[in-house]
Amino acid sequence: MKNPVYWVVLAGISIALIQQGLPVRSQGESQSDNKQMDNITIRQGETLFLSCSQGDFVTHTAWLNRSSILYAGEDKWSVDPRVSLVTLNQDEFTIKIEDVDLTDEGQYICAVQTSSRPRTTSVHIIVQVPPKIVNLSKDLVVNEGSNVTLMCLANGKPEPAIGWRMLSPSDDSLSSDSEVLEIPFISRYRAGVYECTASNDIAVDTQTVELTVNYPPSVSDGRDVGVTLGQRGVLQCEADAVPEADFEWYRDDRRIFNGFDGIEIEDAGAFSKLTFFNVSEADYGNYTCVAMNKLGSANTSIILYAETASVLEMTSSDLEQTAFENDLLEGPGAVQDGNSGTSTVFTPTCLLLIVLLQLLLKF
Ligand SMILES: *[C@@H]1O[C@H](CO)[C@@H](O)[C@H](O)[C@H]1NC(C)=O
Ligand SMILES: *[C@@H]1O[C@H](CO)[C@@H](O)[C@H](O)[C@H]1NC(C)=O
Ligand SMILES: *[C@@H]1O[C@H](CO)[C@@H](O)[C@H](O)[C@H]1NC(C)=O
Ligand SMILES: *[C@@H]1O[C@H](CO)[C@@H](O)[C@H](O)[C@H]1NC(C)=O
Ligand SMILES: *[C@@H]1O[C@H](CO)[C@@H](O)[C@H](O)[C@H]1NC(C)=O
Ligand SMILES: *[C@@H]1O[C@H](CO)[C@@H](O)[C@H](O)[C@H]1NC(C)=O
Ligand SMILES: *[C@@H]1O[C@H](CO)[C@@H](O)[C@H](O)[C@H]1NC(C)=O
Repeated sequence: MKNPVYWVVLAGISIALIQQGLPVRSQGESQSDNKQMDNITIRQGETLFLSCSQGDFVTHTAWLNRSSILYAGEDKWSVDPRVSLVTLNQDEFTIKIEDVDLTDEGQYICAVQTSSRPRTTSVHIIVQVPPKIVNLSKDLVVNEGSNVTLMCLANGKPEPAIGWRMLSPSDDSLSSDSEVLEIPFISRYRAGVYECTASNDIAVDTQTVELTVNYPPSVSDGRDVGVTLGQRGVLQCEADAVPEADFEWYRDDRRIFNGFDGIEIEDAGAFSKLTFFNVSEADYGNYTCVAMNKLGSANTSIILYAETASVLEMTSSDLEQTAFENDLLEGPGAVQDGNSGTSTVFTPTCLLLIVLLQLLLKF
């Protein structure tokens, strides 16, 4: 089937190809016709169609990949199963390459031999690959004050641009336009979800990393609690900590456990609650809540004091007055004081007098 003339033609085509890289000679121009088509850009995985026009008097034609022949007329030379013939007739010669990959990139040439002279058409194939993040920092747990480095590597063609940002809680001040995000001396407020984005002309890939920052507990100042004998009393303690704090309660130096006579201790997340179901005289006193995690501990003291019946019977304006007095004296001691009924009226009045005296002295 492949007669000697055929081989001669192919040899001629090969020579034409070799000539492509050289400056075009005027002599060569008259004998052959070389045309460069626009570049074809295609995505990895898609099917590439290579088509060239034929015309009358075509004796032989071939599609070549660099220097190897893919198809010579109807004959498939390529051993690649992805390559197949689509159309071969008077007008066009089209082959296709399925599932295009990066290795298929490069110059393809259609060579046509007519009765008069050879002619080639070449086309440059550019394969694009969507970005893919291939190496990403794992979720991290660090202690406050550590230096943190997050890393994100991605493939793709064209080369993807890589960036980091803090996703939640959203913080635009924490971002980077590179593969690496460095956070020196990390604070608890930098804990959260970070997002790496790799993008090129064709697509975007994103991945997230969760960053946990551990820190020792801090407890909110305890609020003293006044309870009437025989009533229910609740002491509440709140701690901010990561990991969440464990709580212990003390009466002076003695540890109190859940289930002690008439007492219940309930921990729920950042809170711990100590409940007296029926406050007795002996219950009044100084309680300490200690919050601890592996990084440290903190404590606060809460006074359970007797609330007298007279306080309960006060009018609402009296209650406001008491609150005012508490603010002034900044302490639970005054409220525990049995004489608070009188001092309630007295203290603010004294202050008023002092202020008035100062004003008068100025004139
Ligand atoms: C085609 O692609 C090649 C290789 O990337 C490049 O050198 C050339 O400038 C491109 N030509 C056009 C017309 O875009
Ligand atoms: C084109 O040639 C290159 C190198 O010879 C090869 O790796 C690639 O698979 C070829 N492509 C096709 C479609 O044959
Ligand atoms: C990911 O990056 C780290 C740090 O550069 C390196 O040690 C590791 O081998 C990389 N893993 C992969 C799969 O590339
Ligand atoms: C964190 O980095 C700073 C300099 O950037 C360095 O002085 C310090 O020792 C580092 N801390 C740790 C825990 O590595
Ligand atoms: C609370 O304790 C006192 C003394 O032990 C008892 O008399 C009273 O009935 C108790 N009240 C309740 C509601 O249990
Ligand atoms: C309560 O106890 C704590 C710890 O023992 C102590 O520091 C604090 O001064 C006490 N509070 C009062 C009002 O006695
Ligand atoms: C409470 O904290 C103080 C320092 O803030 C510490 O000296 C004390 O030992 C702590 N008390 C307990 C019971 O942990």
